[in-house]
Amino acid sequence: MIERLLPAAVRSAEVFDDSAPAPLLGAEHQLVAGRHPERVRQFASARACARRAQAGLGLPPAPLLRGPGGAPAWSPGVVGSITHCGGYRGAAVARSTALAALGIDAEPALPLPTGVLGLVGTDEEGPMIADLTATRPDVPWDRLLFSAKEAVYKAWYPRSGQWLGFSRATVRLDPDGGFTARLRPERPAPGVPLRYTGRWLTGRGLLLTAVAVPAVSAVPPARS
Ligand SMILES: CC(C)(COP(=O)(O)OP(=O)(O)OC[C@H]1O[C@@H](n2cnc3c(N)ncnc32)[C@H](O)[C@@H]1OP(=O)(O)O)[C@@H](O)C(=O)NCCC(=O)NCCS
Repeated sequence: MIERLLPAAVRSAEVFDDSAPAPLLGAEHQLVAGRHPERVRQFASARACARRAQAGLGLPPAPLLRGPGGAPAWSPGVVGSITHCGGYRGAAVARSTALAALGIDAEPALPLPTGVLGLVGTDEEGPMIADLTATRPDVPWDRLLFSAKEAVYKAWYPRSGQWLGFSRATVRLDPDGGFTARLRPERPAPGVPLRYTGRWLTGRGLLLTAVAVPAVSAVPPARS
């Protein structure tokens, strides 16, 4: 499913349960030492997805450890993102010559618990969610807003190294499967975009969102 949201330069892999063998490699074991077995299986399945996605770029299997802020420590020259939720584990990667940043997120396609939208949404986004819910009640727009912000954060953080609260992003959700995000970080992060475009879809009881930022060198020059 996730590949439908991503540009051709991206390699991705996903599973909907933990039934496939997913051995951890090297120091990955230490990342989940003492964790609940269910969380270990989820982590291992997502790491296996990351290895399958990286194999699509021609990279050999290797431990995928954590970098600053909990982001995956991809090999030099690789950008990527991982997500897991009930019924979904997925990973997406690309060469950094093609993409500057990548963020993916999966959520159950269910409304947020009462009160959570007030923590996630801005004053601007509240009326948008109400309007979209009135016209398309089949989509849990509040959860989609949350997922879009998570995907944006996963693209933002590895380049900026900066925490970003939910109130520091304003997202416009498009009923046709797109979204845009405008960020207002506390501090400027030189060279890191403040505007993002993403895509979303719903299916199999899930919401998926993705943000892919083209590398500057991969953007064709504008025609004069
Ligand atoms: C980090 C965060 C985005 C993870 O999202 P989540 O929905 O809780 O969980 P998911 O399963 O989708 O994603 C977890 C994966 O995100 C990745 N991740 C964690 N921290 C990350 C970071 N700082 N940057 C990029 N990716 C990160 C990891 O790969 C992690 O999986 P792993 O531990 O198995 O490697 C979320 O917990 C968080 O802290 N959000 C608050 C910040 C935010 O979203 N602000 C929105 C402003 S736009």
